[in-house]
Amino acid sequence: MKPRTPISVYIILTAGLTLMAFEMFAEDSKYLTSPYFWVLLIISTILLLIMNTVGDLVENQKFSKLTEEEKRLYIEDKKTPYLQKLWNSAFKKQSQSEEKDILIDHGFDGITELDNSLPKWWLGLFWFGFIFCAIYMVAFAFTDYAHPEAEYDKETKTMLAAITEYEKNAPVITLETAKYNADDIAEGEQLFKTNCVTCHSDGGKGGIGPNLTDGYWINIQEKSLFKNVFWMLENGSPNNPTMRPFIKDGTITGRDAEKLAAYVYHINQETAPITPAQGGAAPQGEQTKWEAANE
Ligand code: HEC
Repeated sequence: MKPRTPISVYIILTAGLTLMAFEMFAEDSKYLTSPYFWVLLIISTILLLIMNTVGDLVENQKFSKLTEEEKRLYIEDKKTPYLQKLWNSAFKKQSQSEEKDILIDHGFDGITELDNSLPKWWLGLFWFGFIFCAIYMVAFAFTDYAHPEAEYDKETKTMLAAITEYEKNAPVITLETAKYNADDIAEGEQLFKTNCVTCHSDGGKGGIGPNLTDGYWINIQEKSLFKNVFWMLENGSPNNPTMRPFIKDGTITGRDAEKLAAYVYHINQETAPITPAQGGAAPQGEQTKWEAANE
């Protein structure tokens, strides 16, 4: 007769698996304060205790039927703590006589095979993996758990909500409030690459749209170059509909326009102009002297 696995091990395992399942399926860690979670744990512990009591009764029955010698061995065996037994089972070596009992009846070239029982730690890992796999597969098939698509959707929604929330509270930037800031140049360059290069070419050297790096301008609506670019982005060109009112038609926000204007200001006023000889488009409009950006 073999000693049984102690009830504490069952309780810890059950609690661990319950926790794992909740951790997988619950939205967040709020289940730790939910009565359902704790009632479930208490009920499963009570069931385990009942199972243990029945086990005790069966064990007593069996024990009374053992011979004196078997009883002595059984009590001796029971003295070793469970974890130590588990540990020992990993390194167990059979004695000669024990080997004879589990020798399988086949061999080749003197090589024979023993029918060892698997160590308990190995079986434990196997069953853990098995149960985890089953739960995981059911979860994957029937719930949103571990679904990349569902997770992606959820994250996109949270992000969009955060952006809407931000834009609701962020001050709207207008022609009056826009300010030149050198920190905006890098982002402005990225925005320029997505929205403007098709017409104004790389670095604003001009193509369908005029060269933005020279001193000549067709549209002069504001005193500073920075504000003038913002004006163009808000209203478009009064002479040529090819240059659309990007803000008014909703392609970009005032915040984007502020960054784009900072970038155009930078390539026009803070960098050496791209002259036609270096591959820029020929100047258009009249030569203009601009006021400083944040006047
Ligand atoms: C579809 C082509 C096109 C796109 C895209 C475009 N532009 Fe233009 N842009 C033009 C044309 C054409 C003009 C000249 C308008 C005119 O003759 O009044 C112009 C004029 C301008 C001017 C005034 C230049 C001057 O000399 O008066 C600025 C500043 C400007 N664009 C900035 C931008 C920025 C910044 C973007 C990106 C958000 C952009 N444009 C996107 C075609 C375009």
